[in-house]
Amino acid sequence: MSEPFVNIKRSHMCGELRDSHNGRSVTVMGWVHNRRDHGGLIFIDLRDRTGLLQISFNPEVAAEAHQKAHQLRSEYVIAVKGVVEPRPEGMVNPNLETGMVEILARELTILNASPTPPFEISERCEASETIRLTHRYLDLRRPDVQRVFLLRHKMSQAIRTFLASNGFIEVETPFLTKSTPEGARDYLVPSRIEPGNFYALPQSPQIFKQILMLSGYDRYFQIVKCFRDEDLRADRQPEFTQVDMELSFVNEEDIYEILENLMKTLFKDVLDLDIETPFPKLTYQEAMDRFGVDNPDTRFPLELNDISDDAKNSTFKVFSQAIEKGGVVKGLTVPEGAKFSRKELDDLTEVAKLYGAGGLVWIKLTPDGWQSPVAKFLTDDEKAAIAGTMQAGEGDLLLIVADASFTTACAALGNVRLNLIKKLELEPSQQFKFSWVTRFPLLEYSEEEKRFVAVHHPFTSPVEDDIAALDEDPGRVRARAYDLVLNGSEIGGGSIRIHRQELQAKMFKLLGIEGEEARLKFGFLLDALQYGAPPHGGIALGLDRLVMLMTGAESIRDVIAFPKTQKASCLMSTAPSPVDPKQLRELHIKATGIKKD
Ligand code: AMO
Ligand code: AMP
Repeated sequence: MSEPFVNIKRSHMCGELRDSHNGRSVTVMGWVHNRRDHGGLIFIDLRDRTGLLQISFNPEVAAEAHQKAHQLRSEYVIAVKGVVEPRPEGMVNPNLETGMVEILARELTILNASPTPPFEISERCEASETIRLTHRYLDLRRPDVQRVFLLRHKMSQAIRTFLASNGFIEVETPFLTKSTPEGARDYLVPSRIEPGNFYALPQSPQIFKQILMLSGYDRYFQIVKCFRDEDLRADRQPEFTQVDMELSFVNEEDIYEILENLMKTLFKDVLDLDIETPFPKLTYQEAMDRFGVDNPDTRFPLELNDISDDAKNSTFKVFSQAIEKGGVVKGLTVPEGAKFSRKELDDLTEVAKLYGAGGLVWIKLTPDGWQSPVAKFLTDDEKAAIAGTMQAGEGDLLLIVADASFTTACAALGNVRLNLIKKLELEPSQQFKFSWVTRFPLLEYSEEEKRFVAVHHPFTSPVEDDIAALDEDPGRVRARAYDLVLNGSEIGGGSIRIHRQELQAKMFKLLGIEGEEARLKFGFLLDALQYGAPPHGGIALGLDRLVMLMTGAESIRDVIAFPKTQKASCLMSTAPSPVDPKQLRELHIKATGIKKD
C-alpha cells in the first residue's frame, strides 16, 4: 500500500504553520496521530517533531486524496500537499500551536504503513516502563519524551559554546584503554590479538585529561561516555555522560568560578532562569554535621544537632557507650512532630536501620512532658540540655541516633531527614539550589580490603598542610576535592591533582599499589609526571543527572535515549546477549557460567 518517495519535497514542518501562512500551498510530512471521519470529511492530526497539524480531506476538493485517506491509521507515514486555510468559526483549537489553521489536502502520498502500536503515542502514557523500553523507538516518538531530548541537545550546545569561548578545547580520549579507577568495577573488552589481555572501558577519562595538561593543552573538555559496572539506582546508569574538564595553572577558586558561570549561562539559555552566584560552600565536615550526608539538600531548613555533650553521662547506655567508643549522638527536631503515629515512628526507625543505625530514639514533647521509651533513663537536667541544644518546644518530635561511628550516625539521621522532607511535603526555599562541598577526606579505610582507599581517586592532591600527616594518620588527611551539589544531588565532582611525581608515587604506595603493580597500572602516568607537569585540576559533571534535574525527570532512564534497566540490560536490543562460539574462540575466551532465564 505504500508509495514511492519521489519528487516530493517538504516545504514546512507541521508545528510551524500559523495564520500568517493562510493561502499558501505547502507540503508537510509526518505520522498520522489520529483520524476522525465527519459526515464525508476526513480529518487527521499529522505529527512531526515540531507538533501537530490538522489536515482535512474533502471529497469535493480532492476526490482521490479523500478516497486514499480512508486507509490511514495511526502511525502511518504520509506526505500531504495542500493549502493552509483558517479554521471555520468554532473549530479553532486553542490548545494547539497550529490550532488556528488547517491544511485542505490536495494530494496524499502514503509513504509507509504501521500496525497498531502497543501503546498510544501521546503525552500521557499509561504503559509500563518495560513495554515502553522494549519499544523505545515508539516511546521516543511521544512529544513529552522528545521535549526532554530537545532540552538535552540545547544543554550540550550551550555547554560547548560556553566552554569553547572560555578557552577550552575538545579532545577525544580512547574507549579501548586501561583501567582508570573511580571506585567501580571495570567493563572489560578481550583482545583478539593478545590472548589473555584485556582493554578496560574508561570509568572516566581521568588519566588522559591529566596527560593533556602535561602536554600543554591548558584547558580541555569533552562530553563523553563513561562506563561503570556498579549497582544501579534511580540516578545511575552503567554508561553515562560526563561533561569532563581539566585546566592548568589553577586552584579551587578558579574552578568554582568557571563552573558557576557555566551554570548561570546554562540555566539562562535553556530555562531562562537566573541563578545566583557564587554558590555557598560547605566543607565535608560541615555538610555531615548539619545535614548528615555529603550531598545535602539545603533547600530545607531542617538541620541536625550534635547532642553528644548533653548525652555523654546518661544512664541510657545506647548514648553513653556510643560516646565512650569515640562516636556521637545526633539529633533532629521535627517541628510539630509530636502527633506522629506509632506506625510513622516505626517507619522512620526502619530508615535509620537501613543506613546502619542500631535504632532511632524518638521523644514527643507533649503538654504532659516527655513521652518516649527512653524518658525514664534521662535526668531532668539532661532533658533540659537536650531540648535546649535541639531548640525544641512543646509539640515537637525529637529523633536521635547514637553510634560509635560518626558517619553511620550522620548517614542514618541524614536519610531520616530526607525521608521526612518527602513525607511532610515540605516546601523548598527555591527551585534550584546549588552548593559546593569541599575538603573531603583524602582516604578512607576499607574493612573489606584491609587498606586505605581513595575517597575521590588516587590522583587527588592532599591539602598542603596535611601532607605531613600522610605517614602517621592517613585517615585525617583532607583532599583538595570538591563536589557540586544541586538540590541534594551530586551533579559533579573534581579535584586539584597531584602534579609531582614523588607525591603521586607515595600516594600509590599508601593505597597499596606498589612496585611491579604500580608500573603495570600507572607506569605511563608516573613517567609522564617527570617531564614538567604543570599544576592542574578539573571536574566532571554528570550530564544525565543535570538533565534529570532540569527536566524534573524521576529516573535517569527518562533522559537517556536508549537506557539500560536496573539489571544493566537494554530491553530493546536485548543486550547483553550470548555470542557465537566462534567469536569466543577467536577471543581465547571460555564462558564458565551461563545465565539462566
Ligand atoms: P566522579 O566519579 O565524581 O568523578 O563522576 C563525576 C560525576 O559523574 C556523575 N556520575 C554518574 N552519573 C550517572 N551514572 C553513574 N553511574 C555515575 N557515576 C558518576 C555524577 C558525578 O558527580 N574523573 C572524575 C572527575 C574529576 O576528578 O575531574 C570523576 O569521574 O554526577
Ligand atoms: P533497646 O535498648 O535496644 O530496646 O532500644 C531502646 C530504644 O533505643 C529503641 O527505641 C531503639 O530504637 C533505640 N536505639 C537502639 N539503638 C540505638 C542507637 N544506636 N541510636 C538511637 N537509638 C537507638
